[in-house]
Amino acid sequence: VKIYAITSTYKRPEQKAELTRLSHMIKHIPSFHWVVIEDSKGKTPLVSNFLKKSGLNVTHLCKKNGKRIGHGPKDLLTRNFALNWVRNHLARKEKGIVYFMDDDNTYDLRLFEEMRTTKIAAVWPVGLVGKVLYEGPVVCRGERVQKWRTGWKVEKRKFKVDMAGFCVHTDLLLQKPDVTFKDVATLEDDFLVDLGLTPKTIEGKHCDEVLVWHTRTEVTNISHEKYAIARYNATLIEV
Ligand code: UGA
Ligand code: MN
Repeated sequence: VKIYAITSTYKRPEQKAELTRLSHMIKHIPSFHWVVIEDSKGKTPLVSNFLKKSGLNVTHLCKKNGKRIGHGPKDLLTRNFALNWVRNHLARKEKGIVYFMDDDNTYDLRLFEEMRTTKIAAVWPVGLVGKVLYEGPVVCRGERVQKWRTGWKVEKRKFKVDMAGFCVHTDLLLQKPDVTFKDVATLEDDFLVDLGLTPKTIEGKHCDEVLVWHTRTEVTNISHEKYAIARYNATLIEV
């Protein structure tokens, strides 16, 4: 079964480092299609060249996210655009598993072999998110989740799980062609509910081990960059 992983990405000093780390991890995953969608008006040369050189099986898309209000999920429009692209182009040719992969998270390769066996939709715990050490399903009996754990929106969410903590089969996405992410704080929960899933019917995987971490990269201090450009009159190399 193919895995279709959707990654929204945007221009900032750390972008190429994130994509490098992610792409080198992806090289180790068999039967994998990477859908990279740039949050920008057009495809940037950096990402275009990067993806070409990577030799990976990728689809490169772009879409600008709108203004964010309130919680305003950062990658809402890009993610929904890519999701529909997978529905209309990739899933028509070959069934698969869809996973939303932020460019700054940390992934254990075993996660992808676990998600590949998903029948309809699956959940698993995610480290370093939900205002706790790890959040998501933590006790499973067979495939059924018995207990969830989180420190965020404890009562408001049926599925107490981060974006990195679930995947869905393309069959379900094609059966529910209109379901996309909404502009709400509990967007993962709403998405899974809208797909007709319940915490009792969703498949729980490796509930006893964290295989993905919601790591975040520190914003780099480049406040002396103007000085460096003035002093060294540098032709900027790609960073
Ligand atoms: C959390 C969740 O893990 C995301 O899945 C969720 O979409 C996000 O919050 C949100 O609020 O929308 P967090 O670490 O706070 O993630 O967010 P980022 O890692 O900064 O962004 C998530 C993804 O969207 C990344 O792949 C990032 O490159 C991309 N992004 C971020 C954009 O495409 N455009 C932006 O303006 C910001
Ligand atoms: Mn992140």
